[in-house]
Amino acid sequence: MLDFIHHAAAARRAGLPTLLLLHGTGGDERSLLSVAEMILPDAAILSPRGKVLEHGMPRFFRRLAEGVFDLPDLHARTDELAAFVEAATAQYGLAGERLIAVGYSNGANMAGSLLLQHPTLLAGAVLLRAMVPFEPTQPPDLHGRRVLIAAGQFDSMVPAAQSHRLADLLTAYGAEVDFHTLPADHGLTNADLSLARSWLANV
Ligand code: MLT
Repeated sequence: MLDFIHHAAAARRAGLPTLLLLHGTGGDERSLLSVAEMILPDAAILSPRGKVLEHGMPRFFRRLAEGVFDLPDLHARTDELAAFVEAATAQYGLAGERLIAVGYSNGANMAGSLLLQHPTLLAGAVLLRAMVPFEPTQPPDLHGRRVLIAAGQFDSMVPAAQSHRLADLLTAYGAEVDFHTLPADHGLTNADLSLARSWLANV
C-alpha cells in the first residue's frame, strides 16, 4: 500500500505537527529535507516522490503545458496520494491528525489539490509558489485549516493573479489564509524560509 518511493522520519521532539513534504518538478523525496530542517527542526516527516515523469523529472501530476494541468490525471493522482498519506501516517505512527503539507511549485499545487479534494486530510499547508490546481464544482469545507501562501513578486511561472485567486478560493471555503508576496522569482529564498519558520511556530 505504501506505493510511493518516500522518505519518512519520526519526530525527535514531542508535540510538533508532521510535515508532508511535496517537491517541485525534477525534485525527489530528499529535495525538501533541508528546508524542513530549517523551518521546523525535529518534526516528523513524510516525503513522497511524485510518480509522474516529465522528461525524466518527477512530478505529482501530468501537465499539458507549463501551467496547464491535465485535470483527470490531477484528480486521480490527488486521490492516490491522499490514500498513500493515510496509510503511511498510520503505518509509521505519525501524527496524522496534525499533518501540515509543505509544497514547492508543483508540490504546492498538489498540496492545494489535496486541500480542495480531501479537505480533512491536512491541518494546514505551506504553499510556496502555488497556483490554483483546479476550481472545485462543490465547495469543500476548509474551516479550521490554516494556509500560508508565499508568492514571488518576480515569478515568471506563476502569475500574481493565480496566487491571489488561490488565496481567495481557500478563504471563501473557510481556511485561514496568510498571504505574502516576497521580492523573489520562482526559486525559494531565505525570506521564504524565515516566513515559513515563523508561521509554523504559531500554528
Ligand atoms: C506545475 O506544473 O505544477 C507548475 O507549472 C509548477 C511547476 O512544476 O513548474
